[in-house]
Amino acid sequence: MFSIAFRRNGFRCWTRLYCNQRSFVTIDEKRQEAIHGGGKAKIDAQHAKGKLTARERLKLLLDKDSFREYDMFMEHQCTDFGMEGKTIAGDGVVTGHGTIYGRRVFVYSQDFTVFGGSLSKTNSQKILKVMDQAMTVGAPIIGLQDSGGARIQEGVDSLAGYADIFQKNVLASGVVPQLSLIMGPCAGGAVYSPALTDFTFMVRDTSHMFVTGPEVVRAVTNEEVTQEMLGGAKVHTHISGVAHRTFTNDVEALQGIREFFDYLPLSNRDPVPVRPCDDPLDRMDSALDTIVPTNSNLAYDMKEVINRIVDRHSFFEISPKFAGNILVGLGRMGGQTVGLVANQPLVSSGALDMDASVKAARFIRFCDAFNIPLVSLVDVPGFLPGTKQEQGGIIRHGAKLLYAYCEATVPKLTVIIRKAYGGAYIVMSSKHLRGDYNVAWPTAEIAVMGAAGAVEVIFRNHPDKATMQKEYKEKFATPLFAARRGYLDDIIEPRLTRARLIEQLDLLKTKSLQNPWKKHGSIPL
Ligand code: HXC
Repeated sequence: MFSIAFRRNGFRCWTRLYCNQRSFVTIDEKRQEAIHGGGKAKIDAQHAKGKLTARERLKLLLDKDSFREYDMFMEHQCTDFGMEGKTIAGDGVVTGHGTIYGRRVFVYSQDFTVFGGSLSKTNSQKILKVMDQAMTVGAPIIGLQDSGGARIQEGVDSLAGYADIFQKNVLASGVVPQLSLIMGPCAGGAVYSPALTDFTFMVRDTSHMFVTGPEVVRAVTNEEVTQEMLGGAKVHTHISGVAHRTFTNDVEALQGIREFFDYLPLSNRDPVPVRPCDDPLDRMDSALDTIVPTNSNLAYDMKEVINRIVDRHSFFEISPKFAGNILVGLGRMGGQTVGLVANQPLVSSGALDMDASVKAARFIRFCDAFNIPLVSLVDVPGFLPGTKQEQGGIIRHGAKLLYAYCEATVPKLTVIIRKAYGGAYIVMSSKHLRGDYNVAWPTAEIAVMGAAGAVEVIFRNHPDKATMQKEYKEKFATPLFAARRGYLDDIIEPRLTRARLIEQLDLLKTKSLQNPWKKHGSIPL
């Protein structure tokens, strides 16, 4: 049954009609219009670029038949620059909700075949509606970005649309996880929506993010650059750190997001997900006993340590190609999601630098916001020395990491594997920063600085510096000194690490700790 308006004797009247074939066709026609977007030629062009359409993407992202679309009949209201009457139902963005492995998620998927996926005021209203509902019910938001940016014909209206989305991104931050997958162009101010979300993923070759494109760069700076050089996936996952992972194509990217989603709590009110675990909780791993070389100047792969401690094949690394001297990612221990932060001796000996500090700080704050316990594995010789770091603001950036660990109230578990020197010892989730469970392997070295540096300072004129270094090492290149002070809760055999951590995670499930009330802190940004 439908209500329709008609005119009788010049008066506007309303009546209700039972669905006849004609009204069904009209609705169905509109539905088909929305489904076909910009039409066959544009869909073919999209496929020719190796890209899927907005709807094909949602099909792969969401569980079968779970998608419920909203606002497929909405149209833009623009009448300028030839836009009058030039409408396509849905207006270039597909919005709604569905499930991933049975858990609720809100989505929007920009349709490049409709006006280049450009963002109109109507587009933004559709996106804001799902963001609002996601926050109301407590479910993550995933945005699939493929857009020419603000719809030029709408002028300030489309800018206002972006502004509303940015504002909503900020309000949603820390309330529900927000994920962005860049699957085409994302240019100009449009980049700031993904930048405000928790994680940004990109597709190799077909996605680009830049504030100003190659033409503007050429006009302003005379520099000849390609889109790829300015904002391709490699740039953002290796150099800028803007994006967190690259996938080789749309299908792999959507599968990757499904996998990642499964680690996430649905909101800040939702418990951390626990998945069935067939990896024994008390599994001992004797390979860990010998993984640290006896010569403490030699490196080893901390990723191997992580993989041997977490549930088998459960480490999902974030930003693997950016600031490789620190490893961060989500994993599972006893089926429960944990956030892992670990120095990587294979890169710059695991020293903390500006990028590593910011990478880890952001990840820690995400985990804390969503009640994900933190497991830190420490092998850090200190902060990276040099003018580049000092002049670049290592003090400011290192303070972000310190702030993030200090502020976090989630369970904090730390294993000192080998080196823990100076300020970096404190920063890397030491006992002094409200650590809940701080242990060391027998190979741990905890001191203000390494033996060579220390002897140069305190025994500058000593005739036998080698002996002094040996003495220093005997005293400090051991976890005993810190354990005697109670700064370590225990010294454990490496093979027991997994079992001990899982026990403590279970113990700390009921941890309750609150920071003093404040409007918000002032993190040294
Ligand atoms: C309206 C747009 C559009 C836009 C593309 N189209 N971008 N329509 N507003 N922003 C339309 C094109 O006119 C074309 O329509 C169709 O989409 C496909 O675009 P093509 O150019 O044919 O595609 P392609 O060659 O693949 O190039 C894609 C592109 C290019 C690189 C994205 O379209 C482009 O440079 N667009 C403009 C990008 C831009 O500068 N946007 C503004 C950014 S500033 P027809 O009808 O011919 O098929 C911004 C401000 C946000 O967004 C501020 C927030 C605060």
